[in-house]
Amino acid sequence: MSDWFPPRRSAAAYCCVVGTPVAHSKSPLIHAAFAAETGIELDYDRVEVQPGTLAGAVTQFRQIGGIGMNVTVPLKLEAWSLAQVRSQRAQSAGAANTLWFDGDGQINADNTDGVGLVRDLTRNHHITLQDTTILLLGAGGAARGVVPALLDCAPKTLLISNRSAHKAKSLAEEFSGQTSIVEPVPWGDMRGIEQPQSIINATSLSLSGDVPPLDIDLLARAQICYDMMYSAEPTAFVAWCRENGAPVAVDGLGMLVEQAAESFTIWHGRTPQTGPVIKELRGL
Ligand code: ATR
Repeated sequence: MSDWFPPRRSAAAYCCVVGTPVAHSKSPLIHAAFAAETGIELDYDRVEVQPGTLAGAVTQFRQIGGIGMNVTVPLKLEAWSLAQVRSQRAQSAGAANTLWFDGDGQINADNTDGVGLVRDLTRNHHITLQDTTILLLGAGGAARGVVPALLDCAPKTLLISNRSAHKAKSLAEEFSGQTSIVEPVPWGDMRGIEQPQSIINATSLSLSGDVPPLDIDLLARAQICYDMMYSAEPTAFVAWCRENGAPVAVDGLGMLVEQAAESFTIWHGRTPQTGPVIKELRGL
């Protein structure tokens, strides 16, 4: 069997983040801060795991006494498939970012991305989602992962727009029939759509420095423009929204910290404060 994990350094609780690439991940910093605040002895590693090999990595992680694993791109679907027990929100998201083992040794999975996004929007940025219109850009894994949590907030309408229209359509169809209206809207021309209060970019466009084809009038009248990506400098989407009159445009750093806090709570039974960690990571 391949070796993914270094020898254990101590008897502290052992957790990790796996993905490819993972070298840039801020999860070790975030979990170390939570551990310091809650007084939990923790070793947390970031470990490169290639697609198709997660099962082996999870087996080794369990053998060395690991208790909690965060899973990032591109392994969230694989993590979901591997799990023997899934939370309701992981089940409906179709992807998992948090794994752990229960008393029977079964692999449990949750998806904390959606709750992370919602907490960042509502608690940290004071945005109301209930009875509002949300525009979600993208219909890939990242978008799918947050749709259930957004719908739990009972928006009036969730509009989904994606370059490949069929994916927006099938995502909208999958989640329709609840209290909120869930509708696909065209990607190339969004001029005619209902004004959203929240615009959430769940595409990977910022990675290549690109922005979606949004009418700038929509930006100026939205309460918040939110990029689920984050980087030290403003992402392409955040910069573009700010330049074009958006009153508030933020990246997904807060979501990252909030989803980590939820994983931390699942594994350690203690809920850390997120505000100080977000401030620290922003260098404030
Ligand atoms: P993730 O898990 O990060 O969501 P993904 O499933 O590959 O990754 O989805 C990437 C998202 O970014 C998709 O919504 C994708 O649109 P398509 O479904 O049409 O591929 C979107 N995306 C990526 N590059 C894009 C581009 N150049 N223009 C528009 N949308 C893009």
